[in-house]
Amino acid sequence: MKIESVPTRGRTLDHAAFVYDFFEPILLLGKQAEYDRHIVSLLELKTEDRVLDLGCGTGVLTRMIADKLDAKAGGVSLGIDAAAKMIRVARKKRESETCRFEVAAAEDLPFETASFDAAVSSLFFHHVPLDLKQQSLSEAYRVLRPQGRLVIADMHIPTTWMGALVSHVSRWFFLQPQIGENIRGVLPSLIENAGFDPPKHVHTYFGYIAIFITQKAD
Ligand SMILES: C[S@@+](CC[C@H](N)C(=O)[O-])C[C@H]1O[C@@H](n2cnc3c(N)ncnc32)[C@H](O)[C@@H]1O
Repeated sequence: MKIESVPTRGRTLDHAAFVYDFFEPILLLGKQAEYDRHIVSLLELKTEDRVLDLGCGTGVLTRMIADKLDAKAGGVSLGIDAAAKMIRVARKKRESETCRFEVAAAEDLPFETASFDAAVSSLFFHHVPLDLKQQSLSEAYRVLRPQGRLVIADMHIPTTWMGALVSHVSRWFFLQPQIGENIRGVLPSLIENAGFDPPKHVHTYFGYIAIFITQKAD
């Protein structure tokens, strides 16, 4: 069945879907597996968990999470992306018993309240404008169960000159003000505004990608 991209003011990557798996390992300087494993470890998964991956792209992280889950116990890792071509590639390469993909916008999730144990996103928030960053976080809060965990890895205030160079060049090369918002450091306050506990900044990769963990308050 043909699937269509959903309308969003976010920057979707339909045009890059077929080359994304080639370029991402290069952009992450050969550390993609280490970076993804770190994110997965922070989720502290149980085999029966239902996990949502926002802006999943071709689903590498979604699948790594899925491999820790048990379908018979109810475990599932569900990746959503607004770009149908990304979802097509993800389904073809990475779908499994515990790994599912759907086209959806993070700011308007088609899921029931409190229906996930954990949510994650990697390199998604610098693709959407400020109001959609906030709306996506509010939606993540809504679909998580109380005490559900949220892990976000994304561009943030650079901590090295190399990180600053990469961030500012990306912002101007791609003409992407959404990156500018991230590097000004907006994410922690948006996370708290959505209702989550104050996020903990656990690590910075490459001097510009920060990892935050938090949870939905009771
Ligand atoms: C840089 S990619 C990150 C993909 C993957 N999470 C990773 O770490 O490689 C950002 C993704 O966000 C998606 N995206 C942009 N706006 C979106 C929205 N409003 N809702 C859901 N996905 C969106 C894009 O289509 C793209 O696949």
